[in-house]
Amino acid sequence: MQDIVEITTEGKTKLLVPKESLETNAPPMQPAFFNPRAKLSRDFSIVAYSTFLQNFKGPKTFLDCLSGIGARSIRVANELNMIEKVFINDVNPSALELAKNSAMLNNTAKCEFSENEACRFLSLHSKRENRGAIVDIDPFGSPSRYLDCGIRATSHGGLLSVTATDLPVLHGLYNDACQRRYYGIPVRTEYGNEIALRLILGCVHLVAGRLDVKIVPLFVQNNMHYYRVYVKILVKTDSDDSMGYIIHCKTCGHRRVQKEKNNACEICNAKAESAGPLWIGEIHDKMFVDSMLSEQTKFTIDKSCEKTLLKCQKEIGMPPSFFMLDEIARKMRDAPKSLEKTIEKLQKSGFNASPTSLNPSGFKTSARIDEIIQVLKN
Ligand SMILES: C[S@@+](CC[C@H](N)C(=O)[O-])C[C@H]1O[C@@H](n2cnc3c(N)ncnc32)[C@H](O)[C@@H]1O
Ligand SMILES: [Zn+2]
Repeated sequence: MQDIVEITTEGKTKLLVPKESLETNAPPMQPAFFNPRAKLSRDFSIVAYSTFLQNFKGPKTFLDCLSGIGARSIRVANELNMIEKVFINDVNPSALELAKNSAMLNNTAKCEFSENEACRFLSLHSKRENRGAIVDIDPFGSPSRYLDCGIRATSHGGLLSVTATDLPVLHGLYNDACQRRYYGIPVRTEYGNEIALRLILGCVHLVAGRLDVKIVPLFVQNNMHYYRVYVKILVKTDSDDSMGYIIHCKTCGHRRVQKEKNNACEICNAKAESAGPLWIGEIHDKMFVDSMLSEQTKFTIDKSCEKTLLKCQKEIGMPPSFFMLDEIARKMRDAPKSLEKTIEKLQKSGFNASPTSLNPSGFKTSARIDEIIQVLKN
């Protein structure tokens, strides 16, 4: 394979990757899959995992059930001093060969490799004594088929991170498939990425519920077609009910959250659409995000991580959807105002308002759409 692989560096880690994956827009599946554009999502993982390990009591192990060439897991082994053991698994032997060579290249002896189907690998780690402190599920497309065994393989108090990349399904092109995979459906809106993340969280919560497991979302992140959620796993029954619907009116742009489906817009009376059932609780944990902000200074990661985390801090406690500046401008038949001015005006009028980590031109507010327009007109 020597002539078709190349060394690339992510963070402080050298990775042996298929040469072609660095040269094309759509990385090939053969001999093994590696997407250099997922670096940002891996940067966030390094910060989130490091933050998590600071307070985790018990064996500090990482289970990567769909490792590919090991981009995430070799970085975990090499960059996180606290991690004790990294289990790297994939069905593709060529991907594993690259991962083994990358482990040697970085002189890390913390890795153990296996070539199993992901659910089999996770099931082998589902006994209490060999569950992972951190478990990652990073599939092609939807993670839903791996959630049961992923949850079972995560320690009590452990961290489960999940990627979804089945965008057309999560964004409302195929609602039947979305219902099957995530037990809920989206509405096509400007804040579709937040709905997608809440559908993923909702699904993890529902699957966990069947296993008498409670999830606590710690952090979520989206860039390009990567949707990532990080949840704490607690082996106990969940008595909170954080599931519900986002009711969205496409006529006036009003949206609200409630426990049941509802079809009438309370502002304009038009027929509204319901997204869900989905997660309507917090998507970030304040203490966790605060700690991520101090932790990220230790790593060689993209500068945008800090900016995103600062926005996450500000959006905690805000409603579960955001408005876009141009969406409001269109309704006002005016040019979009700046984000800072918009937030400042809303706050001066007594509303809560913040940027959102999910879109640079988006903002969250306690004001309704008619109130936003009123405030910005003045
Ligand atoms: C999106 S890639 C993983 C990327 C990797 N985590 C990274 O950060 O570069 C998905 C991987 O899952 C593997 N895979 C697909 N289905 C699998 C299964 N059922 N069990 C184990 N591995 C599987 C593929 O060979 C591929 O390497
Ligand atoms: Zn309406």
